[in-house]
Amino acid sequence: MSLLRRIVVVSKRGEVHQLAQQVSREVFMADDLAEASDITETISPDIVVFDDTFSPDHIREFINTADKNLTSAPVLVVGLDENSKEPPTEYIRIGAYDYINGTNNYNKLQEIAAQLCKQSQSDDPESNSNNFFIDDFAFSVSMAGRSDAIRKAFKMIQLVGASRCDPVLIVGETGTGKELAAKAIHALRHPNKPFVAVNCAALTANLLESELFGHVKGSFTGADRDKTGLLELAGSGTVFLDEISEMPVNLQAKLLRFLQEKTFRKVGGTTSINCDATIIASSNRNLKSEVKANNFRRDLYYRLSICPITIAPLRSPQRAEDIGLLAEHFLRTSTICHEKSKKIVCLTKFALEALQKHDWPGNVRELRNVIERAILLETTDKIGLSSIVIDPDLDESSTDCPTSNAKDFSLAKAERELIARALQETGWQKTHAAALLGITRATLYAKVKQYNIGKNSPLDKESNCNLPSKSSSHLVTVS
Ligand SMILES: Nc1ncnc2c1ncn2[C@@H]1O[C@H](COP(=O)(O)OP(=O)(O)O)[C@@H](O)[C@H]1O
Ligand SMILES: [Mg+2]
Repeated sequence: MSLLRRIVVVSKRGEVHQLAQQVSREVFMADDLAEASDITETISPDIVVFDDTFSPDHIREFINTADKNLTSAPVLVVGLDENSKEPPTEYIRIGAYDYINGTNNYNKLQEIAAQLCKQSQSDDPESNSNNFFIDDFAFSVSMAGRSDAIRKAFKMIQLVGASRCDPVLIVGETGTGKELAAKAIHALRHPNKPFVAVNCAALTANLLESELFGHVKGSFTGADRDKTGLLELAGSGTVFLDEISEMPVNLQAKLLRFLQEKTFRKVGGTTSINCDATIIASSNRNLKSEVKANNFRRDLYYRLSICPITIAPLRSPQRAEDIGLLAEHFLRTSTICHEKSKKIVCLTKFALEALQKHDWPGNVRELRNVIERAILLETTDKIGLSSIVIDPDLDESSTDCPTSNAKDFSLAKAERELIARALQETGWQKTHAAALLGITRATLYAKVKQYNIGKNSPLDKESNCNLPSKSSSHLVTVS
């Protein structure tokens, strides 16, 4: 049985780890208090488990630091000596959540985990909508987001999905999730019916017309057989007209007629065909401006915008809080490399900060790509800053980086350089530098020793393989 999402275990004893694994699949290990604080801050665990080789004073220090940094999590202490008769009230007195006597006490741990689970649900009545996965939808269209802006869009999707509103218009920049929203509406309305999509920008006027309405044999040169159009193929499902602003103006008139009557004729045909499908159109252009510029018919615009759904760009300040959530969502759901994404549990604080700084011109689609690339590059259990590569092709600094220099491909040299820079930049604060590099402190110590890096080690002046500066959003990886 596994109840909790994430646990940090601060213990060198294997039994304590095994105990924790009984109630969570994501168990993180820390060797000392500093590492425990770092990990807790990064992953927000449901509980932190110490063994009682840590004194109450030590644990109080941990709790106080966490409180100060607003990263507190309940602390459980596991007594290693099963036969200890004294109830260690001292731990409870300094603020520990509970104490377990012995490392075999699975039942007590499960009770505590169930209690914590219940508490976190009642503490946060909105916990479901905070991590908004639209549970009623098919898994393939689950959308993630917690900002007010995206919740407003979710609300509209649900209202429109539950209504008979037709046509539906979805507006937003490319990559913001318009097609996903259309699929969500479809899943709410008629999940078992066909969903057919056509990109209005990809076809010429004639082809698009016959794609949508179908044609009869002989109606134009090359029409050597009857063709059934998408409006007919969709039955009582959904037709998604992607990038409607690109539809040729003369076809817009025919579409408007169809939307008003909900009947159509095939190209060259004489019989009227009824259509029961819901029409959902999307646009990444401002249709009002397109109307003003005479590129889009005003009457069609009004017909479409009965109840428009707007999806804000990812860079808009109102969506800032969606970035981390979406990153974790893609980490959990990506199928790019199953083995690795199962092992990678989260992103480091610095990786997340880098994502927050970028302005995401390609919106959620771009973010998904960055996370999938990071999954491929990452070698540890957390996505670190060095695996976040934004705009790999456009990154000019990468051409100057020693790793891509034809004269020097030495990975070891680049690694040494990056570590020395991280240490220098953080004033030799190893915890901070390790987090910046996305490695544990123990690994950092080992590397410092391996490369013999000292406080006075010279840095390669020519190297542009920098840690990202505060203003830089384009990152280079050498891992
Ligand atoms: N809120 C979201 N939650 C999860 N995935 C999303 C979300 N918004 C967009 N995506 C993903 O981003 C990518 C682009 O979305 P898409 O619907 O094709 O965008 P658009 O049609 O606006 O260009 C898709 O892989 C989609 O699954
Ligand atoms: Mg699209």
